Amino acid sequence: MKAKMRKVAALGLFVAAAGVFCAVEMQANEPAAVQAAPEKQYESYGATQVVGVEPIKNMFSHKSHVVTAGLSCDSCHPDVFERKRGAAKAKGDYNMASLDAGKYCGVCHDGKSAFNTTGPETCKTCHGSDMKQPDTIVFNLPVKTVIFEHKGHVDMGLDCASCHDKAFEMRKGAAEEHPDKFTMEALYAGKYCGACHNGSDAFASNTRCTTCHIGVKGFDRKFAGAAEAGKKDHGKKEH
Ligand code: HEC
Ligand code: HEC
Ligand code: HEC
Ligand code: HEC
Ligand code: HEC
Ligand code: HEC
Repeated sequence: MKAKMRKVAALGLFVAAAGVFCAVEMQANEPAAVQAAPEKQYESYGATQVVGVEPIKNMFSHKSHVVTAGLSCDSCHPDVFERKRGAAKAKGDYNMASLDAGKYCGVCHDGKSAFNTTGPETCKTCHGSDMKQPDTIVFNLPVKTVIFEHKGHVDMGLDCASCHDKAFEMRKGAAEEHPDKFTMEALYAGKYCGACHNGSDAFASNTRCTTCHIGVKGFDRKFAGAAEAGKKDHGKKEH
């Protein structure tokens, strides 16, 4: 892994060579106006104009690798990453399992050449959050109170990649932004929950409606304990 880490000795040298190397600018939290700018931008390091490449995703910044960490382009291109946005993703194994096994970002992020990928503090450095999966997700669009439990599903031995990002984005509310698509028909076609709830990997989506659709009453019942902790018991019998 060390062999991949050809450092440019000094920033001065880097700038001198910048006719060949093109560096790369823009941090994750730029204003929207800047992010919307055309793909190639010319930025200035010292006296030299270099091509700026936008951050690939908020978690990866060319600038922090090329300028701050002093890595040359060929420590990543083309052996670790193609110079094409989305190329790694298209390979189908761009996930934590690969990173942990020393591929892609994991070539360096192995706890030796750079911070590791096994966290928990490091999750935040790349993902911007601690990646804590929310306990219970309740979908209310297009219909009310469909329940999803991360814990139940993860405890069954499903790993994160079995749902993210293929069946679901790792962002609460993403599926509900398209209530016209997030439907039973889509589930029956193998999308969303239907990726598994197809009658062979898990109970079929056209059965046991009320296991997923717990209904408003079911929701109240399930969360009665929490909701009523500070309230009087309204004579409900459940426990
Ligand atoms: C630490 C690793 C790393 C280094 C060093 C690095 N890159 Fe990249 N580069 C990436 C990654 C990751 C991608 C995205 C690849 C993907 O999505 O599959 C990328 C993508 C690109 C792209 C495609 C951008 C686009 O929008 O399609 C260009 C151009 C590029 N890099 C140029 C450079 C240049 C020039 C240098 C040296 C100044 C450099 N990179 C150094 C990791 C690196
Ligand atoms: C060629 C080696 C190499 C590769 C490949 C690489 N990194 Fe890094 N990365 C480094 C080094 C070196 C540092 C700085 C030292 C450190 O923080 O441990 C760094 C730092 C970072 C930082 C902290 C930057 C900051 O501003 O604090 C993030 C985030 C990061 N890398 C994400 C990624 C992601 C995501 C990928 C894959 C897309 C990746 N890196 C691929 C070597 C690499
Ligand atoms: C060096 C940067 C880096 C660190 C550290 C890191 N990740 Fe990731 N993670 C990535 C990249 C890159 C991807 C693939 C992104 C993509 O598909 O666009 C990814 C994908 C994921 C995914 C979705 C696919 C999968 O593999 O399941 C999950 C979940 C995830 N990371 C969780 C975590 C957790 C939890 C931690 C901390 C233990 C962590 N990551 C630490 C870079 C990182
Ligand atoms: C069986 C499917 C499934 C598995 C397995 C799964 N998730 Fe999720 N996850 C979801 C769904 C569904 C959502 C909500 C997506 C939506 O609303 O569009 C979600 C959302 C998230 C969110 C977004 C939270 C927010 O507040 O925006 C995070 C973070 C997350 N998952 C992390 C993980 C991690 C880490 C793992 C592995 C330990 C994991 N998930 C495994 C289905 C799954
Ligand atoms: C990656 C596969 C996978 C995906 C995607 C998935 N599930 Fe499941 N789910 C399972 C498996 C496996 C079981 C347990 C086997 C069984 O009961 O048939 C299960 C069980 C359940 C249960 C009963 C156990 C419990 O946790 O209460 C519910 C409810 C449920 N899933 C809802 C959903 C909903 C809603 C979605 C979509 C938001 C979803 N699941 C997406 C695999 C998945
Ligand atoms: C595996 C979990 C699951 C099962 C089982 C399930 N559903 Fe759904 N259902 C969902 C999800 C997820 C949505 C979309 C989110 C929402 O509407 O809150 C949905 C949405 C719906 C909708 C509104 C969208 C549309 O397709 O018109 C109806 C109606 C519906 N379900 C009826 C049913 C009926 C009837 C059954 C039993 C034959 C059933 N569902 C079984 C998860 C499930």
